[in-house]
Amino acid sequence: MPESTDGLARAAVPRRTFAIISHPDAGKTTLTEKLLLYGGAIHLAGSVKARRAARHAISDWMALERQRGISVTSSVLQFQYSGYQINLLDTPGHADFSEDTYRTLIAADSAVMLLDNRRGVEERTRQLFDVCRLRRMPIFTFVNKCDRPGGNPLALVSDVEADLGLGIYPVTWPINTGSGFVGVADRRRREVLLFGRTADHGATLVETRRMAVDDAALGLVLGEQGVATLRDELDLLDHAGHAWDEAAVLAGTLSPMFFGSALSNFGVEPFLHDFLDHAPGPLPRPAVPCEVLPDGAEFTGFVFKIQANMDPKHRDRIAFVRVCSGHFTAGMTVTLARTGKTLRLAQPQQFLARERIEVDEAWPGDVIGIHDRGTLRVSDSLSIRGDVVFSGIPRFAPQYFARVMVSDPLRRKHLDTGLRQLAEEGAVQVFYQESMAGPVPIVGAVGLLQFDVLLFRLDAEYGVPCKLEPLPFKLARWVRGSDTAIDAVVEGRSRMRLYDARGNSILLFEDEWALRHSLEKSQGLEFLEVAP
Ligand code: G4P
Repeated sequence: MPESTDGLARAAVPRRTFAIISHPDAGKTTLTEKLLLYGGAIHLAGSVKARRAARHAISDWMALERQRGISVTSSVLQFQYSGYQINLLDTPGHADFSEDTYRTLIAADSAVMLLDNRRGVEERTRQLFDVCRLRRMPIFTFVNKCDRPGGNPLALVSDVEADLGLGIYPVTWPINTGSGFVGVADRRRREVLLFGRTADHGATLVETRRMAVDDAALGLVLGEQGVATLRDELDLLDHAGHAWDEAAVLAGTLSPMFFGSALSNFGVEPFLHDFLDHAPGPLPRPAVPCEVLPDGAEFTGFVFKIQANMDPKHRDRIAFVRVCSGHFTAGMTVTLARTGKTLRLAQPQQFLARERIEVDEAWPGDVIGIHDRGTLRVSDSLSIRGDVVFSGIPRFAPQYFARVMVSDPLRRKHLDTGLRQLAEEGAVQVFYQESMAGPVPIVGAVGLLQFDVLLFRLDAEYGVPCKLEPLPFKLARWVRGSDTAIDAVVEGRSRMRLYDARGNSILLFEDEWALRHSLEKSQGLEFLEVAP
């Protein structure tokens, strides 16, 4: 296929495809906005506050649609910076947290772990980190909100290491004086970066002045005591901390850490530069018959997310495809490995800043949105001949469970069809509880919004108005072993046994205690956090 000069130029631009993982309120929206600002994709960082207020001023239903709208337009943000093509995959964080958040991580090559300088590792961060660890993904850490006093940074480093079992290498180190957070030291370059204050609260880029750590004039800026403290801390890090180890970074066992403030832009640019230089480009992907290398000639990709249109007048959906190898061109015909059927990928879309645009081509590391009328499923593999099957996207144990109650029992068949299709699409997980009257469907989700969407879509698309009866379980594990051994751990109110669509047993637990107790009691049973 002849290449356009423009296409070749785009192909030659190195890709960085990553996601930000954080707990709500750590500053993901703010940091994303600042990355777009530095990437030149937006010119003035808007106020998060204004958007928040707008979000609250809409009705419940609108809120749902709008939240999904936000996820659609911001599923992947593309921009160029410093010679790199950046694909920032959005991982919904607030009420719209769902299995999509986990699946999106599977499409990334690295992750940025964003921490609040007072709170360190929080629950949501830990859950997302676990998914990254499962894939041995390189993780870069940005400690945010350093413009306000936080915990001792040395204590933060050791807390994160102990909490996540992850080595930390601080690349930059915060400098505080009587007037607050004034800059960071770049340890490997032995430089101090001093940030100028902007009058517009971080809406525009921040000016940076550089000085050597050993520059005698540094005392005039930081004070003699300030300089002595900084040099002591840097010495301590050099002698007691981890050494820089590129291989460990790429293996996901050592995380480079940066300090800054997304709000005031302090430390954002040094972070972005180092991150882009050290984060991996498109990685090889496990597949059958063999691993797919990003420089493979033939186009391959997989679907990691499907976004249904909530407007019943427009039933089309967008399937998000991560390109893994080869050159994608609009309108190309590919084979869907699951069915062996061919499929024309027309009108592919990409997402530039917050706009959707049609694209002609894409390269490994890129994400394209394909209009789909129900053919594609999450985890589907696409390739020219259909002979490449990527290892599936794991199904993660849900944290919310509810019994599905259909108002009209005569609609039960429609309910089963709806649940099956929505489960295949990845909107929700469906399990069954055995009962005298036949299997009772139980749905599971990692975010409550998934249930709202489920009820709406069962009604709108399958004509089955339903209610959900929440169950008191919070943890689940797939379990492997003999039936008798499994039944022996299912007793009392705090556990329940269900089956998934493939007949695997899954146990639900009310709390950590019930899970731990079962683990201790179970002999020869295997408990799994992702579906076998
Ligand atoms: P999220 O997407 O991770 O949930 O976080 P978001 O960016 O919405 O930020 C959450 C809150 O933290 C916001 O404050 C935001 O302004 C603040 N924030 C983000 N980065 C920084 C930072 O570097 N320093 C400080 N001091 N604050 C930061 P809010 O009060 O909820 O909203 P607003 O009234 O400030 O807009």
